[in-house]
Amino acid sequence: MGGTHVGAAKESPYVRDIYGYEPETERRNARCKELEIIPATLAEIMNNSSIKLVYIASINEVHVPQAIMALRAGKAVMCEKPMGMSLEEAAELIEVQKETGGFLQIGFELHYSKMYQQVKEWIAEGKIGTPVNIQCRYYCCEFHKKNTWRSNSTGSFLIGEKLSHYLDLQRWWFDEPIESVYSLSSPNVVEYFKHRDNHQIMTKYKSGGVATLNFIMYIAESYKADPLQEILAKQADDGHYLQYHVCGTKGAIETDVFRRRIRRWEFTDGEESLESKIVETITFDAKEDLKWFHNTHGQNMRVAELVALGLPPESPAIDAYETMKLCFAAEQSEEEGRVVTF
Ligand SMILES: NC(=O)c1ccc[n+]([C@@H]2O[C@H](COP(=O)([O-])OP(=O)(O)OC[C@H]3O[C@@H](n4cnc5c(N)ncnc54)[C@H](O)[C@@H]3O)[C@@H](O)[C@H]2O)c1
Repeated sequence: MGGTHVGAAKESPYVRDIYGYEPETERRNARCKELEIIPATLAEIMNNSSIKLVYIASINEVHVPQAIMALRAGKAVMCEKPMGMSLEEAAELIEVQKETGGFLQIGFELHYSKMYQQVKEWIAEGKIGTPVNIQCRYYCCEFHKKNTWRSNSTGSFLIGEKLSHYLDLQRWWFDEPIESVYSLSSPNVVEYFKHRDNHQIMTKYKSGGVATLNFIMYIAESYKADPLQEILAKQADDGHYLQYHVCGTKGAIETDVFRRRIRRWEFTDGEESLESKIVETITFDAKEDLKWFHNTHGQNMRVAELVALGLPPESPAIDAYETMKLCFAAEQSEEEGRVVTF
């Protein structure tokens, strides 16, 4: 992910020099050479007043300490999800942001992905009436591999690490407070994972809307990675699913990563029953995948622009905090086997 961040910074017309930090000197030098950026220690970065923006793509445990250090050093910060290892840690980061008044955005780049922006737009235009039911089905393959920091992480680690993106989307689309969450997880299929490999998370929103996120990490047959643009054709129809159904009182929306498709239904009151019609279908070319799915590149380019122009974050950290609240409540629900109310 660090390489992806560097790639965007290199393309940004607002960025001049790029510095890179890794804790081990040898790895830092090698990686910076590979990426053609300037190696630096943390202290050098924090004390260099010409460095205005820090992108954090380090391991999860150091996100918050590094973000706090950078905010206190007067830098703008774009920090990868998850926002903290606990809600207390996330809250501490929010406090420091408030205290310093610094720029802080968390890496929920799906807000910059055209597929999900289209859903937001259709909802805002009233195209599906009031959203009432959001379903997400996410089935993938095991791509964390044995003995990595991901597979060695414990408990409900995947909720913050991975599913935070998808819980964040349902929050973004409902755009209202959460009432409660209930999460279930079955015994693992992937025995060498120290964390759970499946989750069914049900969320109830204040006005009565509900959402379900159903995730499993073992079925799909092909290429061992996240949905990645260049191998999408191989992944499609072999057990990979990443779909949303957003149902409203006047219509519905479906997003389907593996079909490169987004569709919209319109409901009308027919003579004998409710009529439903597919009124819009958008498909796109493989060349555009980056913009439609995980638009990290677009997000990072935009953050450099916002910081250079002295503008505030487009996706405020306090909103990311609310998503983390949902993530940690879902974890708590699984641990305690009960509904957690907000
Ligand atoms: N937004 C997204 O879609 C997305 C996708 C992938 C990863 N991520 C996030 O990016 C982060 C990195 O993921 P990755 O897949 O690149 O993992 P990775 O294991 O490939 O890279 C992590 C890097 O951090 C380095 N590191 C370890 N301790 C550090 C420290 N104290 N300071 C600085 N660097 C340190 C490691 O040496 C390694 O190079 C994770 O937090 C992950 O959740 C986000």
